[in-house]
Order: sequence, then structure tokens, then C-alpha cells
Amino acid sequence: MDTFNNMKNSLLMLALAASTATFGQAKQAKSTVYVVKADSIKAHVQPTMYGIFFEDINMAADGGVYAELVKNRSFEFYTNLMGWTERQKDGGKGSVKLVDRKDERPENPHFVTLDVTAGTYGLNNEGFRGMGIKQGETYSFSVMARQHADSKIKLTVELVDAKGAVFGHGELSPDETNWKRYNVKFAATATVQKASLNLWAKNSGSIDLDMISLFPEHTWKNRPGGLRADLVQKLYDLHPGFLRFPGGCIVEGRDLANRYQWKKSIGDIDKRENIINRWNTEFKHRLTSDYYQTFGLGFMEYFMTAEDIGAEPLPILNCGMACQFNTGQLAPMDQLDPYLQDALDLIEFANGGPETKWGKLRADLGHPKPFNLKLMGVGNEQWGEQYIERWKVFEKAIKSKYPYMKLVSSVGPDPDGSKFDFLNATLRGFHADILDEHYYRAPQWFLDNVKRYDKYDRKGPKIFAGEYAAQSVATGSPENKNNWQCAMSEAAFMTGLERNADVVNMASYAPLFAHVDGWQWTPDLIWFDNLTSYATPNYYVQQLYSVNKGTDVVPVTLNNQAVTGQNGTFSSAVLDGKTHELVIKIINTTKTVQQTSFVVKGTKGLKATGTVTTLQSNNLDAVNSLTGDAVSPKKQSIAIAANNIKLSLKPYSFNVIRVKLN
Ligand code: AHR
Repeated sequence: MDTFNNMKNSLLMLALAASTATFGQAKQAKSTVYVVKADSIKAHVQPTMYGIFFEDINMAADGGVYAELVKNRSFEFYTNLMGWTERQKDGGKGSVKLVDRKDERPENPHFVTLDVTAGTYGLNNEGFRGMGIKQGETYSFSVMARQHADSKIKLTVELVDAKGAVFGHGELSPDETNWKRYNVKFAATATVQKASLNLWAKNSGSIDLDMISLFPEHTWKNRPGGLRADLVQKLYDLHPGFLRFPGGCIVEGRDLANRYQWKKSIGDIDKRENIINRWNTEFKHRLTSDYYQTFGLGFMEYFMTAEDIGAEPLPILNCGMACQFNTGQLAPMDQLDPYLQDALDLIEFANGGPETKWGKLRADLGHPKPFNLKLMGVGNEQWGEQYIERWKVFEKAIKSKYPYMKLVSSVGPDPDGSKFDFLNATLRGFHADILDEHYYRAPQWFLDNVKRYDKYDRKGPKIFAGEYAAQSVATGSPENKNNWQCAMSEAAFMTGLERNADVVNMASYAPLFAHVDGWQWTPDLIWFDNLTSYATPNYYVQQLYSVNKGTDVVPVTLNNQAVTGQNGTFSSAVLDGKTHELVIKIINTTKTVQQTSFVVKGTKGLKATGTVTTLQSNNLDAVNSLTGDAVSPKKQSIAIAANNIKLSLKPYSFNVIRVKLN
């Protein structure tokens, strides 16, 4: 019996040795000893710690996660027929006329009239960068139409590929001389990355058309007119603590007329006033003349998405200031009321009961349950005295009506310098709740600043690292890449966020999404085309932190010092009170293998096996792409002897160790 047991144990040891081959080398060389004190809790990690920054930049919403396939569906672009071209067949003749009914429908002033004089005449819509269509999927076409008296126009919808081959079609017979929505569903018989849509009108006569729309039936949670399921899934997989929306500079607008106004983003989609997207003309090198905001993804959708993915909603509202990188237009202090009222009403919309005006509207829109809003941003990336003046008005009014609200306040676009210093000191003087710091900096900055929060006032405002990303070339450069060097430097820096979780309560990489054919800003967390998407190395870093955030920070030290770059390593550790595990994160930023040993003190012992998840590449320039991942997490088992975790750190690696405590 004993011999059998011994044999079994030897086999087990062999199996473990095989499965931990990479990490087993630690025995061969002298290890650097790190010490973890598992019984010395330094801070609690907030559930909000790692979240998502969403902004409609890079075609993130229209042309992206908002699954509408028709561009300029309501003819509201400045060039009203942008995206549309006339088509004829079977000797077709006709014309298209743009009609303006501004006085009657100021929020949706334009529609078109098709006059058909012979054969079959129609329009083609090119989609945002084409339309991504999947074989076997059902598509839902809809249109608002109005036949003119005596017209009996029939409509045919076709999906066509670049050569004009039809691979899906439906028919409609509008039968009213008043506006009415018509709908037809049909399946696609091919997968096409850049399809377009033909809308044919047959029989002589005239017909008015508006809100011409095509959606896949399969959307996130299969909501009609909803969001791209693959993209929201990627957000869900981040297990985010919060969802910040709708931006970013989009909150501010280039001018106040083009700021984001949440009240115009809810209710019937044909009543949501379209505006130009402020990223349309922002970068001369990346002009995107067809970039508008339909608000099909509006505040109701943002709140519901936050709920779906288990994230706290964090709306950021305009405080009477347009983007200070653009016009910097200001709402005069005696005309701030509409801005302030928007903020107060939003809280009622999110949390109010059915007896309240805005709470009732939320219920009428299909969500009687409150969204439990607790966080709100006052302005996006504002600065200067003018911000403080406006911030004070918002802070006073919101806090006196809703004392439970925690407000996020801007400390400007940079993590240092005069704008930052002024706001940081002033807002701390006013006991602001949460300061929103932004840093788009070189990878080296992230390594050099890992101790940034070590000296922050523990009794002062909490920190929201609201926008950050390592820039491989320069801030805003179109050459920036989501490469492994940047992702690894962010991972190293994030040990500093985690070690200081008592001060840093929230963090989010920015921007979030980018269409490979429609972006303005790089780097971005998730890239997509019309059919698929991929996660960057930076995404995996965020994900590994988020799913391993644990509940309590414990110290990990090297020679009694926090691990902030000694030997090119960076480390932090947490306990996960829910699973009774110790989680250690360690980054090796050097090009050599490092033998390490983590001696865990203050615990009765560790389980004999744990796991290590590693992100690694020998190539700092490695990037992921639509055709595959060069850098993605690899998980392995490791054998643990007593209270000592031995690990051989690969060059340029981010490692997350998880082990159960006895
Ligand atoms: O993330 C891109 C932009 O960077 C955001 O809109 C703005 O807040 C920041 O300047």
C-alpha cells in the first residue's frame, strides 16, 4: 500500500514538474526573495477599482457598438445625402429630393422624397465603412414612409456585395399617406465585410422616406435596435467596476451647441436630435467627415449596459464649458441653470420613483427599477478659474439635494504642471470627493511614476485615474501602437494603483474602442472591423487586474521596500476574501529571466498548488491584430512548497499568481 502511495506521489510530482516546466527553473539559480505579509492588510480594494471609459471617438458608438448599419439614416448630416447614392434599374427614372420641415420637427428636420417616373429607381447606402453582414443571420430593415396621394410605390430592400451580387432581400408595400413605420426581416446568404444596401422603389409616384434603418436581429441581449453583441461581450469580460460615459471631450463639444445633452438622447430614436461628432474634424491627419452622433446609443442604453455588465454607472456631464482645446466657450454664470438642471434631473431620472417626473419617464421607457446612481462627473477635462466657479455651483446644488452623490472633479488634461497644481490644490481645499487624473504619457513615464500615489494625502479626495494609456510615439500621434512595451509599462504602473487602493478608488484605460477603418486616436483598448474585434495586450492587462483585484491589499516587499522597479521588477499583492486566496502580481520589465521566490508570512500555510497567468513577449513591439493575438494570457499550475512560491519570471512578463490560503 505504502509503495503504491509513494508511486502515486512520485507520479504527481512528475506531473506537476511537467506542467510547471517554465517556472520550475527557479531551483537552478539563486532566487531573489520577495516577502508577502498576508496578515497585514493595508487597504481595501473598492469594487469600482478597475472600470471602463467609454467615448464615441474612433466610431465607437455610431459605426461601432451601436449596431445600426445605415449611415445617415435620417438625412441630418451637413451634406444631407452623404452615404447615399442614386440607383436605377429596368430603365428606371426618378429623382431624390431633400425636404426640410424644421418648424414642424426641429429635432429631426429632414427627410427625402423619391419621385419615380419609370421602372425601378432607388438609393444605395454605403454603411459606415461598408456594412458587416453575416451569413445565416437575420436582419431587420425598417423605414418611416408616407405615400403621396395616388402613389402605390412598392419598396424592395437588398443586401449587395462590392460586385452588386444580391445576398439578402425583403419587400414592403407602404399603404398609408401618413407617416408610418414599416419593417421587414430577412436572412443573409453570405458573409460580407463591406456590403451595402439598396432600397428600390417600383411603380410611378412619390414617397417620403425617413429613418431608414438596418439592424442585425442578434444584438447584445437580442434587444431590437441594440448593441453589437461581440463588442459588449468584450466589455462584460473585463468585469468592470464602473462604466464612465459618454466621454471624454464629447461631453463638452467643440462648442456648447454641440455638447452632449442627455435629455436629447432618450426616448424614440427619431426624436433624438443628431449632431456632428466633435472628432469629425479634430485631427487634420484623420479627418472623418461622415462622423455624426445619432444618439441611438443614448443615456438609457448606457445605464442599461452598465447594469448588464455589472458596472456602476458614471455619467460625466457638461458644466457649462465647451472643450478648452477648441472654442472653450463658456455658459455665463447667470445662465448656468439649464446645465445644472440637467445634472439634477439626471439623478432623478436614474434614481427617482414613479411619482417623480424623471423617474416616471425612466419607468415608461421600460426600466421601473432605479439604476442606483451614486457617481457623477462635473465636466470632463476642464481647467482654470472658470471651472472652479462652475464646479462650486454644481457641487452645492447637487450635494444639498442628493448628499449621497459622490462627485468626480477634473484636475485638467495633465498629471502635473500649472493647470493640475491649481485644480489639485483648490479642489482639495474644497474637500472634493474624487479627482479625475489623466495621463497619456510615454511608457517610461509609467515606470517612473509607480510611486506617484505613495505620498498622497490619505485623508484627502479619492483618486480616479480616469484616462490613461502609454503612448509608444507621442501623445496623440497617429503612429502610436498598442504594443507590448506600452501594455507592460501600464501593468507595472498599476501595481502602484493597487498598492495605494486606499486613495485610488477607480481607474480606466482610454480610449476604449476604435474601428480599424474609422479611427482618429490611437492607442485604444479594443479594435474592431465590421464583423469582428480583437483585444490588445493593454486589454489583457486591464482584464488581469480586474478579475484579480481581490478585496484587500497586503504588502509585498524586497529588502523591506515596496517593489517599485528594483531589478526591473514591480509587484503588488492582494487577498481575495471571497475565495480565500492570495494574489500576487509581478512584472519583469527586463530582458532576462529572473528567479524569484515569494515567502508568504502571516498565514497558516498555502495550498500545494496554485496558478500563474502570464502575459509575455520577447518582442516589446508585439501587437495583436484581427488575424490573431501575439500577446494573450497563458495560465499554468504551479507547485508550492510550504510558504514559498518559486517562480521563474520570463523576460518582459506580467505574472499573476493565485494560491489558496490554508
Ligand atoms: O481619450 C481621448 C481624449 O483625451 C478624451 O476625449 C479627452 O478627455 C482627453 O483629452
